[in-house]
Amino acid sequence: MATEPPTEMRVLELPADARAWVRRQQLGGRRVAFVPTMGALHEGHLALVRRGAELADDVAVSIFVNPTQFGPNEDFSRYPRTWEDDLRLLRRDGVGMVFAPAADQMYGSRFSTLVAPPRVAEAFEGSIRPTHFQGVCTVVLKLFQIVPADVAVFGQKDYQQARVICDMVADLNLDIDVNVYPTVRDPDGLALSSRNRYLPAGDRERALALWRALSLVARLREAGSCDPSEWQAAMVEELHRSGVDTIDYAAVVDPQTLLPLPGPLSPLPSDPANAPPVAVALIAARIAGTRLLDNLLVR
Ligand code: PAF
Repeated sequence: MATEPPTEMRVLELPADARAWVRRQQLGGRRVAFVPTMGALHEGHLALVRRGAELADDVAVSIFVNPTQFGPNEDFSRYPRTWEDDLRLLRRDGVGMVFAPAADQMYGSRFSTLVAPPRVAEAFEGSIRPTHFQGVCTVVLKLFQIVPADVAVFGQKDYQQARVICDMVADLNLDIDVNVYPTVRDPDGLALSSRNRYLPAGDRERALALWRALSLVARLREAGSCDPSEWQAAMVEELHRSGVDTIDYAAVVDPQTLLPLPGPLSPLPSDPANAPPVAVALIAARIAGTRLLDNLLVR
């Protein structure tokens, strides 16, 4: 990899300019990492940027609130937009290029091609938000064409989204590596999310229920339990006990396919930190009108 950092952050609106920037860096022998975002940046996004900087010479970030991944009654119009702050943070963290298209640059008046998401998109978010992953796959494929980076970094926070993108990249032979970075949390365990800012101050404590429920799974595993149905029941009980308004789902499933596990798992290995995950616990719950997602890989 080349070593000198880029000099100044470019903010580009046109797809052709963004693609030319990436190609220029690559022709100069520099590897480019890409972090797609919808803005409203927080430390979780910045951790992805820093991961990108470890993996490549330059980091490109996109900021685009993608209308096609929101359902008709979802929060597209009120999704937080914090443009000036976002640019300041990205500049501070040494990002080389920000691609920030206007909606009509991405979806012209004759736009009609949509990507059918892979099978792993069907359950969970896919069944609750039926067109969500079609919108995500479509925009991410377009972004990969516009920002033809060497590696893209996504957060584990949106676990199913990361799995959907990995499967799309494999199924369509896309020429990009995908790196999934662990969830960044507040000290009390709340997973960072742009939507946390919707939470009324008095309801933040209830939002910790998701992390408490996932921590219970970790504790049961450490205590020797191999039964995913026992973990699932414990999560649901904890979510009810903590007073979340609605549980959209709380499930323990196969970490690759997100399908139900066939039965009890093998015992905890002697070196769990280096063992591959055997399950993932997924939660989506609503608190004071805010929909929160979290997950935990179980080894
Ligand atoms: O995770 C997000 O912020 C969005 O779903 C993404 C990947 C940027 C696509 O719009």
